[in-house]
Amino acid sequence: MTEYKALRHIPQANLFRQGDVFVLFGELFGRGYVNGLIDEARAAGMTILGITVGRRNDDGTLRALTPEEHAEAEAKLGGRIINVPLMAGFDMDAPPGEQNPTEMLSGITLKSWQDDKLDWTKIEACRTAGVQRFTQSAQEVMAEIDKLIPDGANVFFAHTMAGGIPKIKAFLAIANRIYKGRGDRFMSSRALLDSDLGKLILMNFDEVSANTLKYLIDASAGIRARVEAKGGQVRYTAYGYHGTEILIGDEYVWQTYTNYTQGYAKMRLESIAEAAWAQGVTATVFNCPEIRTNSSDIFVGVELSLFPLLLALKKEGGGAWAQEQWDICQNLLGEGVSLQSILDKLETYLQTATSASFRNFDAWPMDNTPELADLMIGTSDEITSLHKDKKALITDHLSALVLEGTGPLMFHGAAEKIAPVLWLNHDIIARQLNALHQ
Ligand SMILES: NC(=O)c1ccc[n+]([C@@H]2O[C@H](COP(=O)([O-])OP(=O)(O)OC[C@H]3O[C@@H](n4cnc5c(N)ncnc54)[C@H](O)[C@@H]3O)[C@@H](O)[C@H]2O)c1
Repeated sequence: MTEYKALRHIPQANLFRQGDVFVLFGELFGRGYVNGLIDEARAAGMTILGITVGRRNDDGTLRALTPEEHAEAEAKLGGRIINVPLMAGFDMDAPPGEQNPTEMLSGITLKSWQDDKLDWTKIEACRTAGVQRFTQSAQEVMAEIDKLIPDGANVFFAHTMAGGIPKIKAFLAIANRIYKGRGDRFMSSRALLDSDLGKLILMNFDEVSANTLKYLIDASAGIRARVEAKGGQVRYTAYGYHGTEILIGDEYVWQTYTNYTQGYAKMRLESIAEAAWAQGVTATVFNCPEIRTNSSDIFVGVELSLFPLLLALKKEGGGAWAQEQWDICQNLLGEGVSLQSILDKLETYLQTATSASFRNFDAWPMDNTPELADLMIGTSDEITSLHKDKKALITDHLSALVLEGTGPLMFHGAAEKIAPVLWLNHDIIARQLNALHQ
């Protein structure tokens, strides 16, 4: 189990400057966490480089980006993208002539999945094929990136990869029930984890969300050696999730979204950074708060813990700017609904025995329960319905703020070389935001 270490100061170390290189290991989406880091890299004048996961042809084969897709992605990133597909995971990989895991599972149904069995020797062969494809491509990508790093430059590798839900029709229905179902539609996350389907999914999460950090560190060993030999420094960061301290009853208390099936992969990610750190490689996993992004939208209720950030902004010395954030959020609510009433609802929700019973760090990630699904999804639905427009939510605004706050904390925190695993909680994010907007 990782030692719990929260960042309690605003890092000031300045390592990166014009001519240094920032490498994004993952694709960039509009609301994605990594926008915070990229803003910092841009402001420092760094050269930005990126990768692509590639795209799938109709027959499932992986391809590079077309010239149009490539140009569009480079324009969005504001930097060069090495066009060698780096899709992680092995759900669509197999030794030549064999079925891949997605094909093996194509027959499962909502009725049968808990009893359907997989041939683990075959699955392991698919995993090996997927890892070989990815690590070989990562070598090719790093050989190209190496050419773009001038002698004397420092390099910042930002890992952002997470995912691995296989595209199996029946699973989408199962996932909808596990993450969004309540009442008759509730489904237990334990049932998933105990099934062969669930075991396969956890293996794929490990590959996409955790092992890719190790493959990145390994594939860039040559770059690291060259950069360091010329007096430069290299940093690696990755985004973790392992619960967050938020204000409950005016105190910062660790809490978590449940059920976070990906939690096992996130703990593996932490141990990869710890092992790298022990070898002298400065890799830090920053465990970040729950926000709404393309990747987290499936987890209904994950956004609830964002509301108390408003309280943290004030507690951490926020002035006129913090009040402005309150006003913006108030304006997103429907006629006659006060922001305070939403915060009160949240406090009541967080104080329930049901909610509190999941605040067990050592037991993380815990299984869901029908009571929690009822309460959490019910509260989420209710609060969403109190907005003027369901497409302009307070949690969208607060997500953007959290992402903005994590940017400098990670950028300067990585430079400072603090620890392999660090929690960024609402206290430090609020303090950083207030400092940015003084
Ligand atoms: N959203 C949250 O609440 C939250 C909280 C803490 C940590 N994080 C972490 O932040 C990181 C970025 O996520 P985000 O929420 O900003 O969402 P996002 O959708 O913007 O980013 C997901 C990233 O994963 C990559 N990816 C997805 N499937 C992949 C695959 N098969 N192979 C390779 N790459 C793949 C995408 O290219 C993208 O870069 C992730 O590690 C995520 O777990 C998110």
